[in-house]
Amino acid sequence: MKVNNREYRTVWMEGNVVFMIEQNLLPFEFSIYEARTCLNTCHAIRTMIIRGAGAIGAAAGFAMAQAFLEAPRKEFTDHIERARKQIESTRPTARNLFYAVEKVYDAGRKSVAAAVEKAREIADADANDSRMIGQYGNDLIRDGSRIETHCNAGWLAFVDYGTALSPIYFAHETGKNVFVYVDETRPRSQGARLTAWELNQAGIPHTIIPDNSGAFLMSEGRVDIMITGADRIAANGDVANKIGTLEKAVVAREFGVPFYIAAPTSTFDRSCRSGSDIEIEERDENEVLYQSGPVRSGRIEEILVASPGSGALNIAFDVTPAKYITGIITEKGIIRPDENDIRALFDDK
Ligand code: MRU
Repeated sequence: MKVNNREYRTVWMEGNVVFMIEQNLLPFEFSIYEARTCLNTCHAIRTMIIRGAGAIGAAAGFAMAQAFLEAPRKEFTDHIERARKQIESTRPTARNLFYAVEKVYDAGRKSVAAAVEKAREIADADANDSRMIGQYGNDLIRDGSRIETHCNAGWLAFVDYGTALSPIYFAHETGKNVFVYVDETRPRSQGARLTAWELNQAGIPHTIIPDNSGAFLMSEGRVDIMITGADRIAANGDVANKIGTLEKAVVAREFGVPFYIAAPTSTFDRSCRSGSDIEIEERDENEVLYQSGPVRSGRIEEILVASPGSGALNIAFDVTPAKYITGIITEKGIIRPDENDIRALFDDK
């Protein structure tokens, strides 16, 4: 995707260094974070310098490759095992992270070069899958469609294009008029900060809405379709995604709004039989209690936005049961969220 007329991917690797767009500073500052070691890359994933299922998957694959590059000959195996555990403990919910680590780890048994090559392949595949999701998803969008989305499942959340936003980019590029309702997505405001920034860059008409507005807009017939991303999809089609997704899906059902998930096959985890097997991340309460942004001096600072002394519960994801989901847009086509369609998706692998 283009930023200031230059093509960028969200994350890439040159030599031993992993480069990534610093998402904690967006939309106020655009800068590139350089992770020189596997530990730096783990820090970037944990602190959400890089975030979003596909992007942290690619970063985790690169981190595993960095571990192979850094491993001393003497303690090679111990180093690799330790690094794998460190990477896998950064964030628990997005399936793509574990998918990438496993693939690069397995490739590294052949050679260090094979590990690096595999990590690059995973990043390329993520970008290609997102592009295909855009093409399939475009069929669901009519000229004049008003689309609601939650969190950020645009190109910042993947290596390029994104998932939920990719069909919107294709619709816009193919000349359809689209309008996007962007859920703010508290507590970290990925919608207000990242999705809105992406749509601004692409010149796509949109407006940010508070998280509690969706039901009213849907009840008034002002939303034609809702599309969100996914962090992990169970074998029965239940979907873990950013907290708040479940509420939207239930409300969409009530008001007859089609509710689609957009995700590549690397987000499916058939070892989870249903959503209740998915580990849900709980994060620091300060993400709820404080907000950050440029103060008058222009410096980005945090301010308290809640009653001093109160604590906060910060559950980062929820699980939407398959029954509320109209379909899942994948890089291989649009499927129903059920065991048969999901099994068929993997039959050719
Ligand atoms: O910002 P994160 O990494 O905590 O959130 C993950 C997500 O990006 C969303 O849940 C998104 O909708 C899933 S698709 C990347």
